[in-house]
Amino acid sequence: AVRHIPVLCIDGPTASGKGTLAAAVAERLGYGLLDSGVLYRATALAATRAGLAISPGNEGAIADLARTLPVRFEGGSIWLGDSDVSEAIRTEEAGMNASSVSALPAVRQALVALQHGFQRLPGLVADGRDMGTVIFPAAPLKVYLTASAACRAERRYKQLISKGISANIDDLRADLEARDARDQSRAVAPLKPAQDALVLDNSLLTIDEAVSQVIAWWQERQPFA
Ligand code: DC
Repeated sequence: AVRHIPVLCIDGPTASGKGTLAAAVAERLGYGLLDSGVLYRATALAATRAGLAISPGNEGAIADLARTLPVRFEGGSIWLGDSDVSEAIRTEEAGMNASSVSALPAVRQALVALQHGFQRLPGLVADGRDMGTVIFPAAPLKVYLTASAACRAERRYKQLISKGISANIDDLRADLEARDARDQSRAVAPLKPAQDALVLDNSLLTIDEAVSQVIAWWQERQPFA
C-alpha cells in the first residue's frame, strides 16, 4: 500500500536551498515533509549528549541510539526527548557532526524505518541526500538540486549575518566543500543524483521559480494531482 503514496524526493548538497524548496513544495501540494538531515543531526546530538565520540569505534552504540531516537516534530519545534533542540541542531558544528555520523553504515540502516514511517497520504516531500537513491527508490519524481559553491557560501553567509552571527565567507565555502566531499565519497549511500533524477541548478533562480519548476515536473508525472 505504501507504494501508492506519492513521494517527491529532493536531494542535493549542503546549502543548495533544498530545505526551503522542499517546505514550499510540500505546502503547495498539501503534503507532509521529511527533513531527513534533522534525523542525522539529532542522532549526532544524542550521541554527544550520551558522551559518545562520533567515531567508527562507537558505530554500534550510536546506531542503537538512532534506532530508538526519541525525535518529535511539534508545533514548528524539534524535540529530542524532553529537550527542544531546534536551535542546537542548526549550528555549523551540528552539521559537521551529522555528516560524520551519517557516514556510519549501521546508523544509516537504523534510520531507514523511521524515514519510511513519514510516508502518509496524501503524499510526502522528502529532503536529503539519498531520498531518491536509497530510501524511496520508487518515487515518481526525484529532483537533484544544486547551486555553485560560491552561491551556496553566499546564501549561508547572509543567513548567519541576518541572525546576528558573524561569519567569514571563505571559511564557510571551505566548510561546505569539505562537507560535500565527505558526503559524496562515503561508501554507503553517497550523495549523487539518482539515475532518473532531474537536475535543477538554482544558482540563478528565485525560490518561486524553483518551486514552479518542481510543481510543473510533478504535474507532468502525476496526472491525478
Ligand atoms: O541536510 P542537512 O545539512 O541537515 O544534513 C546534515 C548532514 O546529514 C549532511 O551533511 C549529511 C547527512 N545526511 C545524510 O547523510 N543523508 C540524508 N538523507 C540527509 C542528511
